Amino acid sequence: MKLAILASHGGSNMQAIVDASNSGQLDAAVEVVISNNPGSKVLQRAEKEGIPYHVINSNTHPDLNELDQAMVNLLTVEHDVDLVVLAGYMKKLGPRTLRCFWGRIVNIHPALLPKFGGKGMYGDNVHRAVLSAGESVTGATVHVVTEEYDEGPILAQTEVPVYEDDTVDTLRERVLPEEHRLYVETLQKIAQGCIQLPDPGAPPG
Ligand code: GRF
Repeated sequence: MKLAILASHGGSNMQAIVDASNSGQLDAAVEVVISNNPGSKVLQRAEKEGIPYHVINSNTHPDLNELDQAMVNLLTVEHDVDLVVLAGYMKKLGPRTLRCFWGRIVNIHPALLPKFGGKGMYGDNVHRAVLSAGESVTGATVHVVTEEYDEGPILAQTEVPVYEDDTVDTLRERVLPEEHRLYVETLQKIAQGCIQLPDPGAPPG
């Protein structure tokens, strides 16, 4: 299984997937890393691992359709990937990319969807909302990507306890390693055919 990882920031999920692939724990190869953020640590990680990487964003492609097409070209013509793995990717994918990889794009979210998902619910905002809601359990979710933020079919979840004295920092630190474990485990199940990617419904127009 050939993977593309799309990420915007630190890339710790990317690193976990690459490490699992290198160690043989995951039967998949990371073919390419794509980011919208030229300053992101995920690109340094890709460089260090010898994985091809690209930056595409509204500076490299001011026209949104061209940006979308460039993404499709990278994923198909240039790197011929089977699955697109979003790992802290902060941009919405364009309709061409969604159509081309419909049902073959997955994302990880740092909470138990459908709770604490949707627009604006990313990164520390999620943990902050979990704490404000007084939840005693949070977790991580891997799901298939559709047009709407965090709404596609859920593939796997894991629970993480929330403690009374938790802060955003302590909660993030407890959830992140669970994300890494869950993502690798779920990708391996997909690679082995133990999880069939569900049909997420009709693709965008
Ligand atoms: C993770 O919490 C992920 O769930 C969210 O963004 C964060 C990315 O972390 N979508 P990293 O870049 O993989 O370290």
